[in-house]
Amino acid sequence: MKSTGIDRRVFVEQTLGAAAAATISPWTVPALAAVDDKPKRTRVGVIGCGSVSNVYLPHLSTCPYVDLVSACDIKPDRAKRQAGRFKIPNQYPHIDKMLAGAKFDLLVNLTDMQEHEHLNREAIDAGKHIWSEKPIANSLKAGQALLEQAKKRGVRVWGAPTVVNSPQFACMAKILAGGGLGRVAAAHADYGHTGPDWSSFFYEKGGGSLPDLGVYNLTTLTGLLGPAKSVVALTSIVTPTRVIRDKGRIKVTEEDNAMVLLDHGKGTLSHVQCGFNFFNPHGHEGSQEKRHTITIVGSTGALGLVGYDWEPLGVDLATASAPDFKRQATEKGDYVWQQGASLIAECLVTGKEPLFTAEHALHVVEIICAARQSQETGQRIDLVSSFKWPVMS
Ligand SMILES: NC(=O)c1ccc[n+]([C@@H]2O[C@H](COP(=O)([O-])OP(=O)(O)OC[C@H]3O[C@@H](n4cnc5c(N)ncnc54)[C@H](O)[C@@H]3O)[C@@H](O)[C@H]2O)c1
Repeated sequence: MKSTGIDRRVFVEQTLGAAAAATISPWTVPALAAVDDKPKRTRVGVIGCGSVSNVYLPHLSTCPYVDLVSACDIKPDRAKRQAGRFKIPNQYPHIDKMLAGAKFDLLVNLTDMQEHEHLNREAIDAGKHIWSEKPIANSLKAGQALLEQAKKRGVRVWGAPTVVNSPQFACMAKILAGGGLGRVAAAHADYGHTGPDWSSFFYEKGGGSLPDLGVYNLTTLTGLLGPAKSVVALTSIVTPTRVIRDKGRIKVTEEDNAMVLLDHGKGTLSHVQCGFNFFNPHGHEGSQEKRHTITIVGSTGALGLVGYDWEPLGVDLATASAPDFKRQATEKGDYVWQQGASLIAECLVTGKEPLFTAEHALHVVEIICAARQSQETGQRIDLVSSFKWPVMS
């Protein structure tokens, strides 16, 4: 089976040159000023030069709104390699050196999941905007503190994933908002593969399949059905040890298998299933996934998302008046899953606002923490956070 990194890397190379495009609405934070009458660009510093940087950097380096200023990694050879490949003039072995070095506006955080929160905090403190891979923070409380800190410093924070930006998400949101399924009752989403083998953090505390994989489906379902009110979950470890490339055999201490039930209110329930032990006959090649990985059913209709929500291929709709599934939204437009940081660079220059929000990302963080609490306690866990909904342009 191919690895996550390789498949997504191949995918981005095939789509290189696709311009970043935001779904927009008015934005109140002032756009970055032009310098010496040169075209405005967001100066970007990238921290974390591992697997996913191979997918982000080709996109960022062809984005007309991006000036790649710095690359940083605690493994300095990685920063050096990516700086060389993508013509990034400065490279650093530590965030402190990066923040004290060449000036930049936006930190793109592509480090281990457990590192995001403290690196984001340090960069906000230094007056940088943030685009963070998931999760922005390890808990709702810590994430809210980051947003508060960002407000005080006059900067903004956004985080992956970008699934709400796809034309297929927009199609489903429009059908739901128009009452196309009648009374919405239930939804199911699943996403998994056999797990990365290049870094141990995926299997250690603060990692796990929920923040790495379940996060996509949780963002999509809450984006479509609204913020969740409460959570019930079961999680487990299916494979207690793993072999990681540079470390050998490690102990798995965070869940690698999860089932999460969400109550969205008004009777609507949904379910997300994710894990690092999911055999798939075509590996993890997004374009080969032709199943409905997300289904939503209501009193007069049913929807199916064809393919993964991070690389959707179309939307199937059946209704009481047209009961055979009919496929729509088969064009992907400019959407690619790795476009988030480029879109933010564009938004910082133009003052446009992306559809994805930090509040939505933190709602999903709260769901993940609640799922773990539910597993530990056997209880249904009430949620407190929310976000602007519906998610539509
Ligand atoms: N690999 C993928 O295909 C993929 C896809 C989507 C999202 N993601 C997300 O991207 C993030 C990174 O994943 P990855 O697969 O690239 O991992 P990786 O292990 O390949 O890369 C992480 C890099 O961050 C560096 N790093 C860790 N702590 C650091 C610190 N404090 N300062 C500077 N550098 C530091 C590591 O040395 C490493 O080079 C994760 O949040 C993951 O969930 C990965």
